[in-house]
Amino acid sequence: MTDPVRYSVQDGIAVIAVDNPPVNALSQAVRAGLAEAVARLSGDDQARAGVIYGAGRTFIAGADIREFGKPMAEPFLPDVIAAIEACEKPVVAALHGTALGGGLEVALGCHARVALASAKVGLPEVTLGILPGAGGTQRLPRIAGAAAALDLITSGRHVAAVEALKLGIVDAVVDGDDPLAAGLAHARRLADGEATGRRSGEIDPGAKDEALFADWRAKTKKSARGQISPMVAIDAIEAAYDLPFNEGMARERELFKELMASDQRAGLIHAFFAERAVAKIPEAEAASPREVASIGVIGGGTMGSGIAVAALNAGLPVTLVERDEASVERARGIVSKLLDDGVRRGKLSEARRDQILSRDFSTATDYSALAETDLVIEAVFEDMDVKKDVFRRLDGIAKAGAILATNTSYLDVNEIAAATSRPQDVIGFHFFSPAHVMRLLEVVVADKTAADVVATGFALAKKLRKVAVRAGVCDGFIGNRLLNTYRKAADYMVEDGASPYQIDAALVAFGFPMGPFAVSDLAGLDIAWAGRKRRAATRDPRERTVGIADRICERGWFGQKTGRGYYLYEPGARRGSPDPEVEAIIAAEREAKGIVPRSFTDEEIVSRYMAAMINEAAKIVEEGIALRPLDVDVTMLAGYGFPRWRGGPMQYADRLGLDTVLAELRRLSAEDGFFWEPAPLLVRLADEGQTFASLNERD
Ligand code: CAA
Ligand code: NAI
Repeated sequence: MTDPVRYSVQDGIAVIAVDNPPVNALSQAVRAGLAEAVARLSGDDQARAGVIYGAGRTFIAGADIREFGKPMAEPFLPDVIAAIEACEKPVVAALHGTALGGGLEVALGCHARVALASAKVGLPEVTLGILPGAGGTQRLPRIAGAAAALDLITSGRHVAAVEALKLGIVDAVVDGDDPLAAGLAHARRLADGEATGRRSGEIDPGAKDEALFADWRAKTKKSARGQISPMVAIDAIEAAYDLPFNEGMARERELFKELMASDQRAGLIHAFFAERAVAKIPEAEAASPREVASIGVIGGGTMGSGIAVAALNAGLPVTLVERDEASVERARGIVSKLLDDGVRRGKLSEARRDQILSRDFSTATDYSALAETDLVIEAVFEDMDVKKDVFRRLDGIAKAGAILATNTSYLDVNEIAAATSRPQDVIGFHFFSPAHVMRLLEVVVADKTAADVVATGFALAKKLRKVAVRAGVCDGFIGNRLLNTYRKAADYMVEDGASPYQIDAALVAFGFPMGPFAVSDLAGLDIAWAGRKRRAATRDPRERTVGIADRICERGWFGQKTGRGYYLYEPGARRGSPDPEVEAIIAAEREAKGIVPRSFTDEEIVSRYMAAMINEAAKIVEEGIALRPLDVDVTMLAGYGFPRWRGGPMQYADRLGLDTVLAELRRLSAEDGFFWEPAPLLVRLADEGQTFASLNERD
């Protein structure tokens, strides 16, 4: 193993190389190595100045997140940085790749910073539930001012080198790809007195702008929605103005430790690693992805158009096939509008949009246009006969080795695959609406799907900047199967006495961006209605059914698109108001069943909703539909608005304690029957005193 920090001297300048692949994280060995290197520089007669840089692809990308939650080992990062800052010889940080978190804090402790133009800097700690705990909240405002510090630290956003220069975070931006050369040149200028360095801890931060802090507090309270770290980070930044530097550092440390001990930190770090672990699937180890240089999309409605835009934005040419000329024109209109939105939001240049429309995007009504395409995604109506017909036709024209994917939400991918002569090439790619925005892609693996086809799904997701989760075939795969289950729990509560509006409010307070009834209105109540009709014949006779949604649909109220659903919508409005007529429908349904409504507390609502979700998730894991509990967590986080700081339903269950969840399910199943019967996996884990997390490690 190479030394994680190497010291050498080049022409009178000490070169301190941090070499801890993959991202030069600040492990204990790196911290100790840095401390030793700086001490050596101080006493080294051969060195007039020093440069700290990262070997490999990046500067230091932050603390070693894997050490979080364990006792911290000395030397502590703030002490290492204090030693760098105190060094009497100038020390330059030479940045490339990403200088994040503790990495940027090391750089802020240096006396000057130079960055390659491609470098990015940031303090993303709040996204992990903590705050910069090694002087970032005290040094950044001193260097860049309160407004920049508040912005960077509460958002965690990555800032490109040019913007960092404007904000005063770096002293120079250098073209090229050699951070060490840039650092050495700057260190020489400092040693020769041609440039001056500064100790950021010694800079006077100036007077506090009270109004600015009040404004950020108000703004952050809204945007953070229940997440505590951004608010606490503001307190820490404020200490830079209220206290002398050393006391501010102590205050930052205290707040950092508080957050480090929080459940939210545990949830957010679980989410970080889970999003990376989902890509670790058996097929990716067994096979390499197939080459995909062109995409075909069949059906250019809501989903097909969004999928086309997602692929076009990633630089892949797309051929879209629709039923007839009128449908082609409609699809072209949707794609153009989505691209225009991208231009308006600054995500796409006008020139790139024009290039996409004239060169990369083509349309057709004839399937033969897809004969040479590497990968075709079907997004036609959710109807088995229509889908089978599409796949039969595709089978007739697609080249050998082309991947044939379906975007079905619920239907049996095995049955669709059987309509072709090449089931090994057929797979489900379940995108979420809007498909060019939502991060989740469920990769649905059918019985005969080849391993390299699965690996291609994961490679494509990466290219589209999405998170792929491997799912098995069942009604609704991972996400929609869960959705159907917790929606039922919500419907039962409405029938028993809660209002849809109270349930939505309770779940928004829990951290979801919208409650389940508002989501139904957005998605369209007709879709779930069709699903209920489809499942009616195969439904378990023991299952409790609620007729309220059917009564609403029978009136033609399908949600936002018809101006009313559970809520009433003013024309064009996205937020609705409670509808007394819906409340009357609910009252009538209760009466017809002889149910005397009772009240629910918000805690009861959350508890039942989560118990239903966790129980179904345990079945999904046990059946192998999800590989591990963490795959369920990522599905819910990336596709269904589950609050990230709660880590996902399985992580949430672990924190509640599986015995607590089991006790709630047993109580509910005694009261309300079969729907609540605990999953055998949950019973086993609770009996063994285990957690879902114990199943996340694969050998
Ligand atoms: N600690 C430990 N491991 C890390 C890590 C870190 N800070 N950052 C990344 N890794 C690991 C990843 O888990 C991944 O491991 P596997 O290959 O085993 O899955 C590997 O490094 C590569 O990471 P990515 O796949 O994410 O690579 P990328 O090129 O897409 O992105 C990155 C690189 C931008 C650095 C991204 O990994 C990232 O954002 N990392 C987190 C950075 C961060 O939040 N730093 C702040 C830490 S908190 C802190 O520093 C507190 C403090 O003040 C003391
Ligand atoms: P949509 O009704 O908006 O679009 C379907 C399109 O397919 C229409 O434009 C239609 O003209 C076209 N089409 C129908 N038969 C065709 C054929 N034989 N050849 C070519 N084009 C044909 O439907 P939407 O919402 O886009 O759904 C498509 C698929 O995506 C469905 O399977 C649905 O379950 C799934 N899905 C939908 C989501 C949503 O939120 N709407 C989310 C995830 C998946």
